[in-house]
Amino acid sequence: MKYWFLIRAYVKYQIRALTAHGVHSPFVYNFIKEVLEDKRSFYAFDEIASLRKKLVADNSTLEVQDFGAGSHTTSSSTRSIQDIAKHAGRTAKYGRLLFRMVNYFKSKSILELGTSLGLGTSYLAKANEHAKVISIEGSAHIARQAAANFDSLGIKNIEQLVGNFDEVLPSLLQKKKFDFIFFDGNHREEATINYFNWALPYADHQSVFVFDDIHWTQGMENAWNSIRTHEAVTCSIDLFYFGIVFFNPEIKEKQHFVLRY
Ligand SMILES: C[S@@+](CC[C@H](N)C(=O)[O-])C[C@H]1O[C@@H](n2cnc3c(N)ncnc32)[C@H](O)[C@@H]1O
Repeated sequence: MKYWFLIRAYVKYQIRALTAHGVHSPFVYNFIKEVLEDKRSFYAFDEIASLRKKLVADNSTLEVQDFGAGSHTTSSSTRSIQDIAKHAGRTAKYGRLLFRMVNYFKSKSILELGTSLGLGTSYLAKANEHAKVISIEGSAHIARQAAANFDSLGIKNIEQLVGNFDEVLPSLLQKKKFDFIFFDGNHREEATINYFNWALPYADHQSVFVFDDIHWTQGMENAWNSIRTHEAVTCSIDLFYFGIVFFNPEIKEKQHFVLRY
């Protein structure tokens, strides 16, 4: 059932998605040319790809917490690192996109909700070694494995917080300002809208919010529609797996783009 929803959403996306030719906004045109279509390869890409390969071959197991409705921890189970590496994060293509976005927007203070094994975090951190990345993960054993992965890549600019987003995020947002937030955990309608609403008061003109899995379910589609149509959002981009929102007031007329990636 879930997959049918995703397949239908993907067909709709393919029909609507534009390339740079159909885009008149200079802001979005530049984003397509300099971020989406940037084919450069960076040393970090190979390093992270090797780590991914190692994790995909690792059949040792970890105890993981499952986050149930309302995002309270409901139970724990055992999963292989192999299985987590294959299913919990996006492919390298989207990791490279995170890297290029941090580079392009010169983001310095980055937050990630959902570390998992830290592949996405590594792209964010390697994009700018002077930036600080804070990443939150609820499963302590997964977070420990991610820490070992960061060490193996020699990454020093990541701070890990272990706990439920519901408990960690509100006080963190009061203490620290972020210019780039990657929302990649607890892909449920209500939770996603809550995280957006909690982060919104601290957003400014430069802020970039990236949401993962915006078409995963009807609930995530609803969450994405309510986020992208929020009055504070001046421009939104749908890349099918990622939804990106901007708050730049220089974009006078609210714009929404479905772009091919
Ligand atoms: C999709 S994975 C993150 C993938 C990672 N960002 C990447 O790019 O490789 C989502 C992670 O969020 C964690 N998570 C889900 N709900 C949570 C919650 N309410 N509080 C804390 N962690 C949560 C899960 O344990 C899981 O490891």
